Amino acid sequence: MRTPLIAGNWKMNGLSANVAEAIAIADAAREFADVEVAICPPVTLVAATAQALGERVMVGGQDCHAAAGGAYTGSVSAPMLRDAGAQLVIVGHSERRQGCGESDADIREKIAAARSAGLRLILCVGEPLAVRDAGEAEAYVLRQLLASLPEEGAAADIDIAYEPIWAIGTGRVAAVEEVAAMHRAIRDALGERGRDNRILYGGSVNGENAGALLADEDVDGALVGGASLTAKAFVPIIAAASGAARG
Ligand code: PGA
Repeated sequence: MRTPLIAGNWKMNGLSANVAEAIAIADAAREFADVEVAICPPVTLVAATAQALGERVMVGGQDCHAAAGGAYTGSVSAPMLRDAGAQLVIVGHSERRQGCGESDADIREKIAAARSAGLRLILCVGEPLAVRDAGEAEAYVLRQLLASLPEEGAAADIDIAYEPIWAIGTGRVAAVEEVAAMHRAIRDALGERGRDNRILYGGSVNGENAGALLADEDVDGALVGGASLTAKAFVPIIAAASGAARG
């Protein structure tokens, strides 16, 4: 059985006052015991959020460096996130692949670092619009997925997030059929390697569209940006995932 995961990625948003929103989300999440919930606040809030939330909601980082420590000004390592109370970390988000030039090989190293620090992972993959329009989305995403995963393939500590770049922060959510087809292709590719990872969808998920997306048997949860910043917007997505255990 795959328990649904609803993870919030706050990106570069949130000051200490916003920990109160995370607390409100965690309080509301108690009603939906069959859904795993995670919040990935900016790194400045990881420790305070982890302390405030306790057990019910996992707290995560949005990225980590591949090294455990050293002369990397401005970077944060996986052991630092773990020490601050994080239980997971997002890697390979398109805003880092595109904005910070991260390659699949970089992401493999980050996954190894996160694993040695005892963090779970959300590995993001997704195609740009031109690739989708050229009809090459599936080949692109599967290549990215297999190149970003560690040599030994995906394991149960890695959740995959399919996030078409054109759907992130644009309000243009992918059609349920497009999401379902891509998730099925990812599921098959992982299945051939003996793996059954959770596959989340990300890209303009909100309380209105979450139900239809999560109704697909291969959509095991959501990675949510904008709509994860407030309890008012995020809790309906958690509610939509409740009762939707998969597998
Ligand atoms: P969005 O972001 O929900 O604001 O589109 C999703 C993401 O980037 O993970």
